[in-house]
Amino acid sequence: MLFALVSAFITGSVVQAVGAPTAGRWLAATHGVIGLAVLVLTPWKSRVISRGLERRNRGRTLSLILAAITLIVIVTGVVHTTGLLSRIGPFTVLWWHIAAALALLPVLGWHVVVRNTLPRPLDATRRNLLRLAGLASTGAVLWWGADRAISLSGLPGTERRFTGSHERSSFDPTGMPVTSWLDDTTPTIDPSSWRLTLSDAAGSRSLALSDLASFPAVEVTADLDCTSGWWSRQIWEGVRLDRLVDAGEARSVVVRSATGYARRYPITDLGRLWLATGVGGESLSPGHGFPVRLIAPHRRGFWWVKWVDRVETSSLPWWVQSPFPLT
Ligand code: HEM
Ligand code: HEM
Repeated sequence: MLFALVSAFITGSVVQAVGAPTAGRWLAATHGVIGLAVLVLTPWKSRVISRGLERRNRGRTLSLILAAITLIVIVTGVVHTTGLLSRIGPFTVLWWHIAAALALLPVLGWHVVVRNTLPRPLDATRRNLLRLAGLASTGAVLWWGADRAISLSGLPGTERRFTGSHERSSFDPTGMPVTSWLDDTTPTIDPSSWRLTLSDAAGSRSLALSDLASFPAVEVTADLDCTSGWWSRQIWEGVRLDRLVDAGEARSVVVRSATGYARRYPITDLGRLWLATGVGGESLSPGHGFPVRLIAPHRRGFWWVKWVDRVETSSLPWWVQSPFPLT
């Protein structure tokens, strides 16, 4: 069970990081299979639980809290997948799923240490490996069954993307949900005083919106796939970054927001990133990054930096950053 829960946590986190269909499809399915395998273990675990409850072990309240959190993680995972409900209170169902999974880890760690059941090398017996294979197969059958049931009943989950996200307001930017990473909030930006600072092999310079407009803009049809569980296809208008930035010998490019939020990209991505000033023929709305936001097709939403005011090249490799932004 420990192995299944930790693997579910890892695969879930990786699903949230990927933006490319080839890897994403398999990862989301693997996550679903492992998540449902936890359910398969319930009958065995129930016996351990009733024995533990009879013994009146110390700290059992926290064990019961662990049971409640696990239930929330699994139920929100399945509900998000079916698409039956998109929000609970102020947050998306997927948000609750991730929050509960994050809460689960420390309580599970405590439970396993206090009940003195840390894995030992001897656990890796042939018999246990066969059991693991049986568990994975049962999880896979459950996942396949759930997937078929969702399709046959025509639930909204049928149309979810390979990342598990549900479609929202494609080609209708006004209906597109507004979400920002953790504590980021929409800043008020005066377009007349806004400047884009570029710092690269050609030196440092700043561009006003009118300067940016003098570069050739193109239309890019791209899917914004947010880690809170929705995606939306829009036609964005913007300038490709390699038109603005002189890469020189740099290894990465950092795109910063007026809020301080930033992401680092491989320098080879310059031809695949756009600074957008418009969407669907209109300028961007404040919540969607006015006056300028980054378009990063094939990357998840947290790479689409909003309210961009600085782009700088760097000699550091792109992976010198936290896999998920911390603020
Ligand atoms: C999310 C998963 C889990 C839940 C919800 C859960 C829940 C519980 C509950 C409610 C009890 C009974 C109360 C108690 O003794 O504290 C219990 C007992 C116990 N659990 Fe878990 N547990 C989980 C995972 C694990 C894992 C991964 C291990 C070991 C690797 C484990 C090992 C034990 C042991 C050894 C007992 C005591 C049994 C006894 O006293 O005979 N549990 N668990
Ligand atoms: C203990 C940890 C976790 C468990 C037990 C778990 C379990 C589940 C389950 C049972 C499902 C539904 C699968 C289905 O019905 O096909 C699911 C879906 C999902 N989970 Fe988790 N999960 C965990 C952690 C996470 C984390 C940490 C993330 C992200 C950071 C995450 C992201 C997702 C996503 C995106 C889906 C939707 C996949 C799809 O629609 O195909 N999960 N999870």
